[in-house]
Amino acid sequence: MSNSSIDSLQNETRVFPPSPEFAANSVADAGLYARAAENRLEFWAEQARDLHWHKPFTETLDWSNPPFATWFADGQINVAYNCLDRHVLAGNGDRVAFHWEGEPGDTRTVTYAELTAEVKKVANVLLSLGIEQGDRVAIYLPVIPEAVIAMLAVARIGAVHSVVFGGFSAESIRSRVDDASAKLVITADGGWRKGKVFPLKAAVDDALSAPGSSVEHVLVVKRGENAVDWTDGRDLWWHDQVEAAEPEHEAEAFDAENPLFILYTSGTTGKPKGILHTSGGYLTQAAFTHKNVFDLHPETDVYWCTADVGWITGHSYVVYGPLANGATQVLYEGTPDTPHPGRWWEIIEKYKVSIFYTAPTAIRSFMKLGRQIPQKFDLSSLRLLGSVGEPINPEAWIWYRDVIGAGTTPIVDTWWQTETGAIMISALPGITGAKPGSAQVPMPGIKIDILSEDGTRVDPPHGGLLVVSEPWPSMLRGIWGDPDRYQETYWSKFSAIEGNKYFAGDGAHVDADGDIWLLGRVDDVMNVSGHRLSTAEIESALVANPIVAEAAVVGAADEATGQAVVAFVILKSNQADAQTADEASALLRAHVAKTIGAIARPREIFIVAELPKTRSGKIMRRLLQDVAEGREIGDTTTLADTSVMQIISDRLK
Ligand code: PRX
Repeated sequence: MSNSSIDSLQNETRVFPPSPEFAANSVADAGLYARAAENRLEFWAEQARDLHWHKPFTETLDWSNPPFATWFADGQINVAYNCLDRHVLAGNGDRVAFHWEGEPGDTRTVTYAELTAEVKKVANVLLSLGIEQGDRVAIYLPVIPEAVIAMLAVARIGAVHSVVFGGFSAESIRSRVDDASAKLVITADGGWRKGKVFPLKAAVDDALSAPGSSVEHVLVVKRGENAVDWTDGRDLWWHDQVEAAEPEHEAEAFDAENPLFILYTSGTTGKPKGILHTSGGYLTQAAFTHKNVFDLHPETDVYWCTADVGWITGHSYVVYGPLANGATQVLYEGTPDTPHPGRWWEIIEKYKVSIFYTAPTAIRSFMKLGRQIPQKFDLSSLRLLGSVGEPINPEAWIWYRDVIGAGTTPIVDTWWQTETGAIMISALPGITGAKPGSAQVPMPGIKIDILSEDGTRVDPPHGGLLVVSEPWPSMLRGIWGDPDRYQETYWSKFSAIEGNKYFAGDGAHVDADGDIWLLGRVDDVMNVSGHRLSTAEIESALVANPIVAEAAVVGAADEATGQAVVAFVILKSNQADAQTADEASALLRAHVAKTIGAIARPREIFIVAELPKTRSGKIMRRLLQDVAEGREIGDTTTLADTSVMQIISDRLK
């Protein structure tokens, strides 16, 4: 984040209280904070009891072996039962779970009864394929109802899903499948994006082509109708299997700490981390936050979260939170601007969406297109807006409220992470006055502190490092297969001070009202359009290309995407003359997109002769960031060779 945007955040002082009508009908009551403060664990136990427990728990938290927590450990629960059967048995089977809209305009309406029936059949398919409790199933699908059905069916039989975002490459699928030793991959022939079918199964085939894969079967949903290769004995059509499956499946009880899913996310090293979440605590916090942050009235609201199910936001706020709460949702397969730039607003009008949850990068791109596009549509059904994924600048916040929210809707800016599993910091919209640009206050039952490097608390107006000071129900339970990395990454930074502090990797400050302002990552993790990317991961993709000798990647401030990937590359000596810098740069941009996925494609690649290094050989990214952001270059005195920056910036002029 640039210094100027930090300043503009700090100058923001407006507060927008909820309307009296909104406050009067608020799901959350102000007493939540007091109850949580009085007895935090009892507060969470109370929230957990809103779910259906096959066997009630008697113990709330076990924190005797930090940082390894268990929540509600002697209870037994079935996550899918809570999202499905429970609503049908309560007489809400006819309620719409999803108004699904495909990108080409085809639609499907799925009620809770239908969703339950489908999940039962798919659970039986999984069992017939030999999937048992604890087995890992990789899911690589577009945003179609089958993605949700697949996740819930895996959960229903106590297996563990690992959803791989549909934009990731074959290599990314392979590394995730291998890391988790997945037995089954569920994919589709293809999906729709920007008016075209993009192949998915082909990437899975590619990922599994190297010998030694743990995968026994590939289950293929027909969606794109594109041609696919077929491996007999391994590949099965979803529709054939589901048609032949037994319709009845009774949800079994599993321990509250039964693993629910693994979701890979970028860290500071090249290898993505498999973040592990379990069942009872995760569902408790996902459901509680969804109901209270989004003020959900399930009988009347139509809720739309635009996230792909391949990200944590899709897991917690498309699948588990909303379905546990019996919400009616919109699910949309495609991009916001296909076939016209008003597609999202058209969908809001069509389904009378009342609660809308999206990312600042999307809001900024709509701002650029102009208000005349959303103003062509009737958005009067909207009563609450949400934001997630990166800091939202006050200008975008105000535009979002004025243009999309008719100048009246509350906005909740929700801070959380793949690791936290559910929202940690947000306003409660009927209670808290909204402040543009601030994520505001910890959720009831969540303890956040801002610390300096040495672990002392920092007071307003100074900034520091954001930590979570007490364990929380939906916290990650570890990194798949790597307990040491879990401890080291999140819990070692402040291990010298008393208590166990979870280090989030974000900078933040608190203002005089106690509202928290997020200031961006403090590590080598970039945030591009609300997606997490690691500098090290992209660097290792670049140096894997035979023409590259060395590479350094930085996240540069970008008006549209928050940050953008900018790479500095030294070519191998025999390459420098073989192609122009432009050719090399184009080739390497495509190479990164192929290796990791299109979201990681660098905005720019500068071919350079040297990289700025300290005497101990560490690349000084700070200086490269100055170049990438077009700023005056900062202090170069610690460089081994102080002329390097001059050479780089001369070359780039
Ligand atoms: O830097 C913070 C930023 O996104 C990171 C988490 O990324 P990920 O695990 O991909 O999860 C994104 C969706 C929950 C955080 O460390 N971040 C997320 N939400 C916000 C945010 N930064 C500022 N304000 C937010 N509301």
